[in-house]
Amino acid sequence: MASINKQTIIKKTADHIAKEFDSEASGHDWYHIKRVWQIAKEISAKEKSDTFVVEMGALLHDIADWKEHDDEKAGGKAARKWLQQFELDKETINHICHIVDHVSFKGIGAENKINTIEGKIVQDADRLDAIGAIAIARVFAFGGSKNRPIHNPNISFDPLDESGYRQTKNHNNRPSVHHFYDKLLHLKDLMNTSTGKKMAIRRHKFMEDYLKEFFKEWEGNG
Ligand code: ADP
Ligand code: NI
Repeated sequence: MASINKQTIIKKTADHIAKEFDSEASGHDWYHIKRVWQIAKEISAKEKSDTFVVEMGALLHDIADWKEHDDEKAGGKAARKWLQQFELDKETINHICHIVDHVSFKGIGAENKINTIEGKIVQDADRLDAIGAIAIARVFAFGGSKNRPIHNPNISFDPLDESGYRQTKNHNNRPSVHHFYDKLLHLKDLMNTSTGKKMAIRRHKFMEDYLKEFFKEWEGNG
């Protein structure tokens, strides 16, 4: 397929997703997807990869979130439905749908089924948007959307297994600050690409500094 057609597919997909995610306020809004798309393009330019698959994977990656659905394959199905209108080969469609189905963080120690460079790039880009300054806003916006407390010092920070992690999505007493320990502080060391790893360092440090300040104030110090 000529590259002009691929650009048209990307544009149509971006317009579609922008419309679909217009009113999302819990951190999975269009601007999250747009940032992931931008970061993914930036990494793709530095790592040998199929940029079309990377861009489409980034644009479709949150089309249906696994924790919000009983069906873990809801994302891939929704992506496939969208992709079938275009003249794309089956392999490309399968590749994009595999990324959509497996990009999500499933808990520390859970198997990562992302196994292609394109998938690794999309996963790194999604994870980079989960750490840093905007990410801190996203955590508390997500918690607020579920009526969760900011912090509860009586709830343990011990690491959760995959099933425990999955349950945090519906545990309305899981404080937002626990999400840093359940997921966000682990992401730097889970980056797939060397470009992603480099980009994660500054954002990670910013979160660490933020948490230091958070707990200092929590204890009434300073
Ligand atoms: P992924 O993008 O890997 O599927 P999620 O959809 O679980 O990850 O989370 C995306 C973002 O939503 C997180 O990085 C975080 O900002 C926010 N979020 C998810 N779960 C929680 C939670 N339990 N508490 C606070 N924020 C959360
Ligand atoms: Ni995402």
